[in-house]
Amino acid sequence: MHILVCGGAGYIGSHVVRQLQRSGYEVLVLDNLANGHLSAIGDTPFVWGDILDKQDLQLVFHQNRIDAVMHFAAFSIVGESVQQPSTYYRNNVAGTLNLLEAMQEHRVNKLIFSSTAAVYGEPKEIPITEDHQTKPTNPYGATKLAVEEMLKWFSQAYGLKYVSLRYFNAAGADDSGDMGEDHNPETHLIPLVLKTALGVLPEVKIFGTDYPTPDGTCIRDYIHVNDLANAHILALQSLLSGGKSAVYNLGNGNGFSVREVIDTAKKVTGKSIRVVETTRRTGDPAVLVASAEKIKRELGWQPQFRDMEQIISTAWHWHYNHSTNPKLK
Ligand SMILES: NC(=O)c1ccc[n+]([C@@H]2O[C@H](COP(=O)([O-])OP(=O)(O)OC[C@H]3O[C@@H](n4cnc5c(N)ncnc54)[C@H](O)[C@@H]3O)[C@@H](O)[C@H]2O)c1
Repeated sequence: MHILVCGGAGYIGSHVVRQLQRSGYEVLVLDNLANGHLSAIGDTPFVWGDILDKQDLQLVFHQNRIDAVMHFAAFSIVGESVQQPSTYYRNNVAGTLNLLEAMQEHRVNKLIFSSTAAVYGEPKEIPITEDHQTKPTNPYGATKLAVEEMLKWFSQAYGLKYVSLRYFNAAGADDSGDMGEDHNPETHLIPLVLKTALGVLPEVKIFGTDYPTPDGTCIRDYIHVNDLANAHILALQSLLSGGKSAVYNLGNGNGFSVREVIDTAKKVTGKSIRVVETTRRTGDPAVLVASAEKIKRELGWQPQFRDMEQIISTAWHWHYNHSTNPKLK
């Protein structure tokens, strides 16, 4: 089976590419390298292309056999989306529309889509299940929800089969050491904490210590990137064997506070990590934890990385090697 992976040179995409290859799939990556890294995909067949460019998509579908598509290509920085909603709607929504039209034209009707917990907005209850109301509080979440709506209607009208995976916080890295979390700018807690441990950043900020949580800091659900990757393989297998379209949460079901993450990172790295406590950021809910019962029940998914120490150890392995090996810088 031949899988086109859009955005496959990015953090999560590159891990899924590796897992697809380990599972015996032929992979073609399309990425415009706006945020991706060619080094993360080794010698995987690669096409430089932009989902905003219909010609790029035409060429890829015309020149290659494609049985299904995995779609990671998007912008995903919440704060930036508030400043530049137009950029986000164009890349995430218009880009996906181009992709869906190209798929339709070339009779490719299976898609795995990277959605997000940000589609839910302020949680009404914890853990969050898939039938929780969807009321995004920022343009990023709104663009992902708009795509989910589009998928639903394309499915009804044109027979598209899709699985939309709503990730909570992806974290960690593959054991191979070839790829890890490397966003620019970086906004995710674990890489920020590890960069502080390495001395690349002077300090890590805690935004708000007065939340109604046991230690006053926000609680989030961190899911290891290889557990995410395994879920993609299961979702793909489901569609390829005639399964129906579906939406699934992907989280660990375990919440960890900001302080717990920092304390665990100190333990794993053996380094001191300078922390600066500051005020809350607007729009940060106190607790975001997923219920992933649906995907466990329906597709048999089981996360392998349950505790924070395990997750941070894999991330540290990559960050440490990446910062000390000049070839990888
Ligand atoms: N990282 C997380 O914790 C998280 C959580 C929820 C959802 N997601 C979603 O998962 C997906 C992957 O996230 P990530 O953290 O790996 O991000 P990333 O930025 O590392 O990867 C995205 C990739 O898409 C590429 N890309 C962006 N726009 C493109 C375009 N127009 N044409 C071609 N390629 C394009 C980038 O170059 C990059 O390689 C995104 O859709 C994101 O919204 C991520």
